[in-house]
Amino acid sequence: MAAPAHAFTHDGIAFGGDYNPEQWDPSVWEEDVTLMREAGVDLVAINIFGWAGVEPRDGEFTFASLDRIIELLHAADIRINLGTGTASPPAWLTRAHPEILPIAEDGTTRYPGGRQAWCPSSPAFRAAALSLVRAVAERYGSHPAVALWHVSNELGCHNSLCYCDQSAAAFRLWLRARYGSVDALNAAWGTAFWSQTYGDWEEILPPRAALSARNPGQALDFHRFSSDELLDHYRAEAAVIRDLSDVPVTTNFMVAAHIENMDYWQWAGEMDIVANDHYLDYRLGDPRTELSFAADLSRGLALGAPWLLMEHSAGAVNWQPINFPKSPGQMLRNSLTHVARGADAVCFFQWRASVQGSEKFHSAMLPHAGTGSTLWHDVVELGGIISKLDEVAGSRVVADIALVFSWESWWAADAESRPSSALGYLDQVHAVYAAFAALHVTIDVVAPGADLSAYRLVLVPGLHLVRDEEATVINDWISAGGTALVTFFSGIVDENDRVWTGGYTGPFRDALGIAVEEFAPVAPGARVSLGSGAAGTLWSERMHVTTAEVVDSFADGPAAGGPAITRNRWGSGNAWYLSTLLEPQAYRSLAQELVSAAGVESPVPVTGDSDGAVEIVRRRGDISSYVFAINHGSTSVQLQVSGTELITGDNTVATLEVPPGAVRIIREESAS
Ligand code: GLA
Repeated sequence: MAAPAHAFTHDGIAFGGDYNPEQWDPSVWEEDVTLMREAGVDLVAINIFGWAGVEPRDGEFTFASLDRIIELLHAADIRINLGTGTASPPAWLTRAHPEILPIAEDGTTRYPGGRQAWCPSSPAFRAAALSLVRAVAERYGSHPAVALWHVSNELGCHNSLCYCDQSAAAFRLWLRARYGSVDALNAAWGTAFWSQTYGDWEEILPPRAALSARNPGQALDFHRFSSDELLDHYRAEAAVIRDLSDVPVTTNFMVAAHIENMDYWQWAGEMDIVANDHYLDYRLGDPRTELSFAADLSRGLALGAPWLLMEHSAGAVNWQPINFPKSPGQMLRNSLTHVARGADAVCFFQWRASVQGSEKFHSAMLPHAGTGSTLWHDVVELGGIISKLDEVAGSRVVADIALVFSWESWWAADAESRPSSALGYLDQVHAVYAAFAALHVTIDVVAPGADLSAYRLVLVPGLHLVRDEEATVINDWISAGGTALVTFFSGIVDENDRVWTGGYTGPFRDALGIAVEEFAPVAPGARVSLGSGAAGTLWSERMHVTTAEVVDSFADGPAAGGPAITRNRWGSGNAWYLSTLLEPQAYRSLAQELVSAAGVESPVPVTGDSDGAVEIVRRRGDISSYVFAINHGSTSVQLQVSGTELITGDNTVATLEVPPGAVRIIREESAS
């Protein structure tokens, strides 16, 4: 990626959150700013949902409130992450242009009353949004308090897939550009199947609700198109800003378990700095490890550069079935997990808890209970700790392992009519990540086709959709002496969702020395036993080895007697394959074997953490390096490290104890 034209700079690690003063009487604003200073806040996002206030009627702009807020913040030395305000259209706009409203796959309209009720392909929305962006950028583009532009908000959070007629027309244009001819499209989508052949571009529609499973090639391309349409919207807003302002531009990504519709590999290079929003998701088995993964993926999108945590929560959210508050110390641990993994900002949604609107039960830095609360005390304490970490800003995480992650594989693997509806791409990514992360090793998340030369070990979980050239990068890297682990449902289809034949794992088959003949999913709740005594769930496969050595076999289940784990010598490297979901302890044992074989180690030795409850990550700067240790467990652990602990200021020689629940950040004596 070329160096960004406008780099985001900040003095140290930024601390703050979304600020929605329009929800409050102006008499509250001064208190807000006073309390922000008390908490150490130095970056706030404003005007995110400001459209109706700034442009109450078409073309009529009123900036009095925003002017006042900006001057108040500026006078307090609080920098501004300025929203373009286009996240949610005002009522007058959708009244004048109801065609802006998104249409779901079943043809039903999504009405105003919530947020983000706009079709990404709507020309009327685009024109109105850009007119607002121009007005805001003209007014504030050179304001000294504006540190960053915040385009829209979480593009695609609710409106990523729109099936309206405008979307259909835009989809056809996108397909023309991709395929050039209807015949090429027919070939790519395999439309000979079920009499789906198209004779004219105008016959093609988005994959609207149908009586049976829809064409998977069409569905896959609609995902790609929809991601591109939103990126195009970002580009359009950014172009207006860049005409009028030298301030860096970004938007907040949603690298999170339940958001799959944006291929952020395509987006990231267009951000002046990558920013992410992350919320712990208690619908997952292991929300804490998902947080670490999301932070590592955010860093991957930034190609290793520092990134910004634009939003997370001080306590509970309001949008999961049951919304849990954070336990004592958890806000600090969660915040510093992001910093450990490369974030140079810790920001929250939101500053002051709303008393009205559908997020009134969402936590905030300043809760309903006010400044007498434990939560407020914890926020102030966190702000103090963040200010002690300023020297960490700009340093980069050191990792020896790469995990290959693909939104296209997510879309293709989780499509309709798959071998097991219990199989989910992201679950497999999380499972392998958790097994390795528990060993205190650090993992970079990379795109298919990325250069792997910096790594000792490469993980390829369920890379279902893979292009020949992407597989070649991995195979060649193994052959040059690398160690890789490929897991089941990898190498199944090409970029057109066409099956690689001749034995699954397709372009990985030779390097792995195996051929998978049949999928044999395992029923929910059932297990399959392996010869070693380990057990797997979810999946097994009937396969044979060609050149690989069988490391473990299925002792029972539908693939009984066949290989379950294999290792193949490929050039001077080793290619491992795993064909079941190992139970967590067995997965960790396999991870341990691979980590040892590849010579990957924890950033510093740790003792006393048998259950993988401690995160240890090193960030390396130009002058010093920093070891972060975050103890999520209930017992103390010991690190072998010497240096200065930045939170307590203590010097540590040789051994440092990290109490349960604590975070320690050590500036090492010399950069290693
Ligand atoms: C997202 C949005 C915010 C808010 C939070 C609530 O991150 O960007 O506006 O709705 O979710 O968790």
